Amino acid sequence: MELKPNIYYKTILQYREAELLFEALKLDIFSYLDEPTTLEEFLKSTNYDKENTKYFLSALLSCGYIEKNNLTYCNTKCSKLYLSKNSSKYIGKAILFREKLGSISNIGDKVKDNSLGQNDKLDFSELAEIVHDEMYVTGRVDDFNREIKQLFSDKYRNYKVLDLGGGSGVLSIEFIRNFPNSTACVFETSEVACISKKIIEKNDMQDKIFVLEGDFNVDAIGDGYDLIIASGIFNFVNMDITEFICKLSDALVLNGHLLIIGSFFENEEYHKEHILNWLKGYINGMKPAPKKSEIEQSMRKANLSLEKRIKVGLFAGELRRKDGEI
Ligand SMILES: C[S@@+](CC[C@H](N)C(=O)[O-])C[C@H]1O[C@@H](n2cnc3c(N)ncnc32)[C@H](O)[C@@H]1O
Repeated sequence: MELKPNIYYKTILQYREAELLFEALKLDIFSYLDEPTTLEEFLKSTNYDKENTKYFLSALLSCGYIEKNNLTYCNTKCSKLYLSKNSSKYIGKAILFREKLGSISNIGDKVKDNSLGQNDKLDFSELAEIVHDEMYVTGRVDDFNREIKQLFSDKYRNYKVLDLGGGSGVLSIEFIRNFPNSTACVFETSEVACISKKIIEKNDMQDKIFVLEGDFNVDAIGDGYDLIIASGIFNFVNMDITEFICKLSDALVLNGHLLIIGSFFENEEYHKEHILNWLKGYINGMKPAPKKSEIEQSMRKANLSLEKRIKVGLFAGELRRKDGEI
């Protein structure tokens, strides 16, 4: 069969489509198109340039982000729900942040010579703020709530929860919403802790959710927990993985649960979605998460048996239970 280079041209087109979406979000185009709107009405609201706006809307139309009926432009149902600032499910800001977070433009310099340029640190404070709404919109919160309701049956019991590297604290907030007599600790670095506190206070839960500042690799994390959440943190564990998992197990009560959310692989052939999103992180010094087999072995040593594998929004997760000593 004759080989053709078409896929590369397709990639350029996809890249343009992505660029178009980012520019449209920056221009806030979708917030003006919740209802069928003529070009003249759009220009009256935005004061944008007539000719260029016409081309830009044509491009959005060609990609299926908006629709056109006679002389009016309008969001698709999906764009109205997620890309218009008038919607409670708006995630435009999160999309723009994620683009910046994982952007690999000019990363080639560091591939050629790792000593070139500064390490681009991941901005976890901004991530904690941005991820808040996204967690509700992408189904993470609904999936989490469904799982905890299956794990914990007594709505009025005082369960104790630890959210390690909890960022926004949303999962702790949701736990307390479901089990109002419970208490939770969000364990975070000092940089992010102030954001966690701000979000917890905004939800008026500061008397139920406490923020512990520290480094989970070296500091004590407390004990007596019925649930420990370890979501997206395994790339930041610097200590021996078995020691870390035993530290989590020691902090749980007997039959307590460990919820892990993250991607683990058997070797360095990462899945496309993972490596493309985290390439910038790895190239800037983030260490790979432990291998699946290492996690499995450490869990056995720590008496944490697999209860089930779950899906939490866009991510994979698993629930473990702390068994008694054999
Ligand atoms: C990828 S984010 C995950 C945030 C949140 N758990 C989630 O799933 O959305 C990793 C979080 O771990 C925190 N973190 C990283 N290293 C840490 C450490 N050594 N001690 C405490 N927190 C840490 C970061 O500040 C960040 O908020």
